[in-house]
Amino acid sequence: MGLLGCQTQSGAFPKGDASERMRGFAVRVLSRRDPLFLAGERTGHDQVRHREGARERAMAEKFFSQLKCRECGRTYPALATHVCEFDFGPLEADYNYSAIGAALNRKVIESRPGTMWRYRELLPIVGDPTVGQQVGFTPLVKADRLAKALGVKACYVKNDTVNHPTLSFKDRVVAVALSRARELGFKVVACASTGNLANSVAANAASAGMESWVLIPADLEQNKVLNSIVYGTNVVGIEGAYDAVNRLCSEIAGKYGWGFVNVNLRPYYAEGSKTFGYEIMEQLGWRIPRHTVVCMASGSLLTKIHKAYGEFTKLGLVEKDGFSIHGAQATGCNPITAARKGGTDLIRPVPHPKTIAKSLAIGTPADGYYAVKSMAKTGGWSEDATDEEIIAGVQLLAETEGIFAETAGGVTVACAKKLVATGKIPKDEEVVLCITGHGLKTVEALTGHLAAPSKIKPSLKEFDSLISSGLAKARVKV
Ligand SMILES: Cc1ncc(COP(=O)(O)O)c(C=O)c1O
Ligand SMILES: [Zn+2]
Repeated sequence: MGLLGCQTQSGAFPKGDASERMRGFAVRVLSRRDPLFLAGERTGHDQVRHREGARERAMAEKFFSQLKCRECGRTYPALATHVCEFDFGPLEADYNYSAIGAALNRKVIESRPGTMWRYRELLPIVGDPTVGQQVGFTPLVKADRLAKALGVKACYVKNDTVNHPTLSFKDRVVAVALSRARELGFKVVACASTGNLANSVAANAASAGMESWVLIPADLEQNKVLNSIVYGTNVVGIEGAYDAVNRLCSEIAGKYGWGFVNVNLRPYYAEGSKTFGYEIMEQLGWRIPRHTVVCMASGSLLTKIHKAYGEFTKLGLVEKDGFSIHGAQATGCNPITAARKGGTDLIRPVPHPKTIAKSLAIGTPADGYYAVKSMAKTGGWSEDATDEEIIAGVQLLAETEGIFAETAGGVTVACAKKLVATGKIPKDEEVVLCITGHGLKTVEALTGHLAAPSKIKPSLKEFDSLISSGLAKARVKV
């Protein structure tokens, strides 16, 4: 059996060389007979050749044409594969930045529709996008009231609670992954998810007429589950934590040859998160914010915001400037924060995550090692937040800025508060908070923490006595 590729069952790459990276992680060897590879080879090359016109092919070769190992730099054809066969390093999209630089400038970008595809040359598809054409370009809100509450000079909220169509930043990664999945000829797409990704794969696959399967921990929030089922996808609840779901998905991808957006299509999927960073810079007036706080599950979003800041600098779209990227996790699942605080890049898995921020509950984060590196390189720090602090964070954002975030957003706000309090974000500097999902998805987390509405008869007299009794302020919690 020829050893062509290898992936950790968890998807994690904890450390430098291959043997270190593999230590302590179950590894599955993929052979040339493996459907994961066959899917890429058969449906990939041949169908791409059939379908694409000359214009798209030329564009593909100009801006993006291959994958590259993040560790050793070896290159691979742009198929459904995600791990280097020599050192098990993750594969990333590889771009021709001089061609992109010649095609892209601020004016060109500003002239395009307000979606994430205005940065299309920096995304790894070869034709025009065919899925998620309306995704992105969400508001960057100048959050003065929140800044005051946090005690910092300036604060901005990048508000992906209103991202289209499923109210989280995951629509960005799915738009790229499914557009690429179609180019590679996949008929069935799937994912391992902590909830938001499942919602997005389900909705975007439905609109593209693709069959989809979403695998999630069985104990997710009810609205997250419902927000997948409604699109007619196949939802499978797994009795176990996310790591178990992810492990199973690697096996299914191998056996069934489906396009798993965050397994065999991960190099394409992950690049979608860069648009979150591109938009921040453009909306700030073409500059990099001094501080950015990002909530982390796998750690991918944080690393891709870092990459986005670097790419715009390299392309001359923003000035080279100092910036720090800080991470945020829940205390009940904080493997990346613990590594950053411990001064190591070795990620210790959390076998039993316990937090109300279920979307961030990944005990073995695939990009944790690189997230730690991004934070260390930019002088960023990392914090974590307890359940109580997460709820307080959700409430603070809602009460100061009128933005209702899911628990992951509460993590970002709570950790930003700690970063300011400890001086990691100096009070006279600015910060951008990455708010990545809508609060209506995680309403159970607030049960028992909010005041019940006052109830009166339809009479002015009763209303008057409500006002005079001060009851409106002292209400019971629901
Ligand atoms: C709302 C929300 N924010 C942030 C994240 C973290 O994403 P990443 O896995 O890229 O760190 C997730 C992941 O599922 C999420 O659902
Ligand atoms: Zn390699």
